[in-house]
Amino acid sequence: MTPSCTALRAPGAVPVLGHIPRMLRDPCGFLSALPAYGDLVQVKLGPVNAVVICRPDLTRQMLLDHRTFDKGGPFFDRLREVIGNGLGTCPYSDHRRQRGLLQPLFRPARYPGYAAVMSQNIATEVEAWGDGQVIDVLPTMHAMTTRIGLLTMFAAPLDSTLLAELHHTINDSLTSMYPRILIPPQLDRLPLPGKRRYDRSRARLRQITEGFIAQYRQEGTDHHDLLSALLTTSQDGRSLSDTEICDQVVTMFVAGTDTTAAVLAWAVYLMARHPDVQERLQQEADTVLTGGTATWDDLPNLAYTRSVVTEILRLYPPGWMLTRTVTTDTELGGHHLPTGTALVFSSYLLHRIPEIYPQPERFDPDRWADRHAPASPGTFMPFGHGARKCIGDTFAMTEDTLGLATIAARWNVRLTSDQAPRPLARAILAPSKTLLRFSRRTSKHTRTLPGPGATG
Ligand code: HEM
Repeated sequence: MTPSCTALRAPGAVPVLGHIPRMLRDPCGFLSALPAYGDLVQVKLGPVNAVVICRPDLTRQMLLDHRTFDKGGPFFDRLREVIGNGLGTCPYSDHRRQRGLLQPLFRPARYPGYAAVMSQNIATEVEAWGDGQVIDVLPTMHAMTTRIGLLTMFAAPLDSTLLAELHHTINDSLTSMYPRILIPPQLDRLPLPGKRRYDRSRARLRQITEGFIAQYRQEGTDHHDLLSALLTTSQDGRSLSDTEICDQVVTMFVAGTDTTAAVLAWAVYLMARHPDVQERLQQEADTVLTGGTATWDDLPNLAYTRSVVTEILRLYPPGWMLTRTVTTDTELGGHHLPTGTALVFSSYLLHRIPEIYPQPERFDPDRWADRHAPASPGTFMPFGHGARKCIGDTFAMTEDTLGLATIAARWNVRLTSDQAPRPLARAILAPSKTLLRFSRRTSKHTRTLPGPGATG
């Protein structure tokens, strides 16, 4: 029996499907209108009742108690089908162990090395664009972040033809996953549209990853990277199985490439849409960068670029809608929540509350001019909060800031149409197809070659 909760139900549910049509047609609009109906609001996804949390303090309270509000609910139950039981999806009972396994890879000492890989690849990628070329930004940025993800996590030379396939496969898995989040597992047997694509892409993603693992095992060399660390680690006297390793590697691919690519794609679009922002980004890049390529040492001086990235994370947080499951009868915001209740929380919704962010739809990087954290905790959470907060937040900020500054240093970006991209609410929030024209800047960086050590 579906557990009952005392929160009000959102209007507009249709028989049988409930709010699924609304969540497919305009999920962002639907979600951000919900605070008008209460602090907790019920939505009906077919036979499943989910409860959406509409207040920052309640979202924070929920995220801080990750035992009572464990990973689960429609988003994570589906994500588990794609990435298995990795750090992002594992339950409370296994989280401390898994976090301990991966945390060493995100130690501060590792970042200068990651940033060097990022700078080099960003420079090579953006230098390859032709003067006046029209670029479809999301796939271009995703190809770049997939390459960076691979090269930072896997130091051994890997079959480069797999890169393009990997990028398409991640993309396909996440795109076809969103409708499945809304469709309850009871209906999985039906031959619904997109199901074969979903099944095929997630199987292929694991197959590619298993190939990487087999290659590493065969070579037997320690490359001092993520995969080598996972292969050589042992916990409680036992090594990790190939399935456990595969789950962690797929987690990193999925969590760490589409997200940063979506931010960069929004960034170049908004740079084209707002010439004043573009000019300020270029001025900062011209002042700070020495060779037209942003590096780790430049980061403290790229304050405006960082504000632009932060404002994009506010307006278009890639992890826009996430879920939890209630593991024991509890209360939140004065409402009873029985065991098994599915909870939905959304940084997209929280970041648009006008009392916290005046004129919330306005793109205004200067909101972040003097601060990089909002006044009260829980009101800005693109990377989540508490024990399950993103392990890759610094990695992501570094990659997106270096990427945007390097693009601004070398290119003028222009719109090719007046039509704004729609936020595509897939598993990750990304812009719909966006074609932009890139013209080489006639500045001190015009004749700059890719960064030090770059190839290609
Ligand atoms: C702009 C880029 C990114 C955004 C917006 C983002 C967002 C998030 C959010 C919101 C969570 C928390 C999910 C929850 O509470 O249910 C999360 C968790 C996670 N992220 Fe990220 N992420 C980004 C980039 C990355 C990168 C680059 C990596 C890895 C290299 C990464 C790896 C992870 C992992 C492994 C978790 C699970 C952490 C745990 O449960 O302990 N993410 N991310």
